[in-house]
Amino acid sequence: KIINVILSGGVGSRLWPLSRKSKPKQYLPIFEGKTLFELTIARNQEIASKVILVGSTQNKTIAEPYLKPVSYDIIAEAAPRNTAAAIAFAAFHADPDDILIVTPSDHLIEGLKNYREAINQGIMYAQEGFIATFGIVPTRPETGYGYIEHEGNTVLSFREKPNEDTARDFLKKGNFLWNSGIFCFKAGVYLEELMLFEPKLYNAAEVAFEYAEDLVLDEEHSKLIPSKSIDYAVMERSDLIKVVPARFEWSDMGAFDSLFEYFKGKGHPVDENGNIVVGTNKHTVFVGLTNCMLVSTDDAVLVLDRNRAQDVKAVYEQLEKDN
Ligand code: GDD
Ligand code: MG
Repeated sequence: KIINVILSGGVGSRLWPLSRKSKPKQYLPIFEGKTLFELTIARNQEIASKVILVGSTQNKTIAEPYLKPVSYDIIAEAAPRNTAAAIAFAAFHADPDDILIVTPSDHLIEGLKNYREAINQGIMYAQEGFIATFGIVPTRPETGYGYIEHEGNTVLSFREKPNEDTARDFLKKGNFLWNSGIFCFKAGVYLEELMLFEPKLYNAAEVAFEYAEDLVLDEEHSKLIPSKSIDYAVMERSDLIKVVPARFEWSDMGAFDSLFEYFKGKGHPVDENGNIVVGTNKHTVFVGLTNCMLVSTDDAVLVLDRNRAQDVKAVYEQLEKDN
């Protein structure tokens, strides 16, 4: 069986105030009227026969209406313990020979034919017992991504979140790809690798999963799971990694700079100084400002220098603290 494991963990704090805890970014219908979540389901629907959604309890309620067209299970996490554990829950729930296509729910992918081709190649590797990743040609020394040093499909090394100098170096060398955050492997292969490199995490996740009731995990056991991403736990260490250089267009809609590029590409008005308005039809004028973004919702307004897109996270965190 081929299963699409959808990770739906974060709140999308860097997209505040569009993205809220009560409605994380993947559930905002701002991509030509569709949400990133339903686009994720749709693009994997022809490839996988089932969805396993792993996310917070809150996610469960928001996600369910979108899952109607497919066969699905939802694993509800009592506390987020990062991706190594989230993926382990899905793997425990599946059969060891099931092939898991693990996808985030908050990425924008265009060029579906190329996507399907890449995933099919990933499935081939998975069937042979490998862990497949999908590599994107980097366009800037981004420090928020993982980098895959490669020669064809062979992975020489995997480096999660390098510092900026290292990232620049990778770009100069030319044989590094960004890790797209999409993975494909047999459930059993992932669990074996996790057991090999992170036995404590493996065991704690297994216990928590055993104590789950109707796939709802409890807090007591979840708390004991070390919080680590699949990238640090497995990808940086495993010898079973293969990379499929991707030909589809990929963007991680993590922050407003990506959203700006998307809107601009779709013909959303941008003034002659690179300023843009999102979320209101009110006539808006920018005087003396360049490369700014005004984001308006029912109860909040954000005015942002687009070069500071990453800093929105801090705003969100401060608001959380004040509440
Ligand atoms: N269910 C669940 N539980 N999902 C989670 C959890 C969790 O505890 N933590 C994270 N996720 C989900 C997020 O919602 C997101 O869809 C995905 O897993 C990846 O987590 P991020 O927190 O967004 O990771 P990242 O952006 O720092 O880095 C990853 O993605 C990059 C590409 O976007 C890495 O895989 C990088 O190597 C990669 O380049
Ligand atoms: Mg991310």
